[in-house]
Amino acid sequence: MPTGPQIILLLKILVLCVTVLLFASLIALLLRQPRLHGHINTAFFVLTMLTVVGFEVMLQLIDVSASFDENSRRALYTHLWFSIPSALLLPAMIVSGKMRRKRLHLALAAVFSALWAGTVITGMRLPH
Ligand code: HEM
Repeated sequence: MPTGPQIILLLKILVLCVTVLLFASLIALLLRQPRLHGHINTAFFVLTMLTVVGFEVMLQLIDVSASFDENSRRALYTHLWFSIPSALLLPAMIVSGKMRRKRLHLALAAVFSALWAGTVITGMRLPH
């Protein structure tokens, strides 16, 4: 069984990897390749969901915050306030993109970008 700090480190690596995918999908848009953007983000969606579900399962099995002090525990909760809503928005991003509801997709993208930035920033601050 991995320890709490190992799980946090793995989580950071996975969040950084999927963020690279998200940037790649935005570059595809700049290159006027919306289909490629869609394909990359489908992979982003699957990997992010697997990460979130995997992390939630591990949270049930291992108390990752057992070695955390009060500040670190608060940092974990702050992180979850960003990461859970952004994961919940992802299905709507996929559906609005596939259905070509461009205005809705762009409105959701603005909220998602803010939440994802919060996820990355607060995630990298977690101790491991
Ligand atoms: C974060 C900023 C994002 C921006 C600015 C953005 C923007 C766009 C734009 C402009 C299109 C083309 C829409 C059209 O021509 O009707 C598009 C398509 C699409 N987007 Fe996004 N998007 C973002 C994030 C995402 C995310 C996070 C996902 C999924 C997890 C996603 C999934 C899709 C899909 C599936 C399509 C359809 C591609 C196709 O034509 O097959 N997008 N997006």
